[in-house]
Amino acid sequence: MRILFIGDIVAKPGRTAVKEVLPALKKEENIDLVFANAENLAHGRGATVETLNEMKSVGVDYFTGGDHLFWHKGFEDQVEELPLIRPANYPESTPGEGYALLETKSGEKILLINLQGRTSFGGTQNLLDDPFRKADEIIEKHSGIENLITIIDMHAEATSEKMALALYLDGRITAFLGTHTHVPTCDAHVLPQGTMYVTDIGMTGNIDSVLGVKKDIIISLFLTAQNQKFEWEDTGRTAFRSVIVDTTKNTIYRADKDM
Ligand SMILES: [Fe+2]
Ligand SMILES: [Fe+2]
Repeated sequence: MRILFIGDIVAKPGRTAVKEVLPALKKEENIDLVFANAENLAHGRGATVETLNEMKSVGVDYFTGGDHLFWHKGFEDQVEELPLIRPANYPESTPGEGYALLETKSGEKILLINLQGRTSFGGTQNLLDDPFRKADEIIEKHSGIENLITIIDMHAEATSEKMALALYLDGRITAFLGTHTHVPTCDAHVLPQGTMYVTDIGMTGNIDSVLGVKKDIIISLFLTAQNQKFEWEDTGRTAFRSVIVDTTKNTIYRADKDM
């Protein structure tokens, strides 16, 4: 089975890139299933039902989240019915689920798990459960399912935390894919025990910006040490960043398009 995973889709430029690239890429690469990180989907922060539907209509099957997912008020009340998971190591009372057990038309079972890092993350990092033990718990819970394909979206800042967790889970999961930094890494490879790995898929969005935000705002933040109101860049070049995981051949490679 061939799975395409799109990194953080940021605001309208990101959604436009998905609409332009995904339908043809799915055909060219014989993709069976498409996942995408949706934490920045609507206006750069959070997701909405409308923007998720927009991405579904061009071929995304299921979505993962991250620290910005619940930015839009009221979204938390809708999350249960959507094809979307949020990090599993959030407090138990958080709306939504941290993993999803999916089944394709041909009967293949896929366990999609979302986790969030706690190293150099700031914000609510101290409120999260340990992603290592949470991963153990979810994997153990599904250990009776034969030929299960397990894919983790590890939404984290620190490369060390991603690598350590991936090597800790090596051989127990199919693929470990990083998101959140918005910067793609060129280290897609297979770990010693067979788990496919990339530190960060990277952002699908505007690249004439600082991680999607208008550059002058972030430059000013660094020059003045004063927080600024964020605005997302909507002019300039965009890039589509994704990886393809082939679970039959056990290969992983980047599928990027600069536009
Ligand atoms: Fe993001
Ligand atoms: Fe994030």
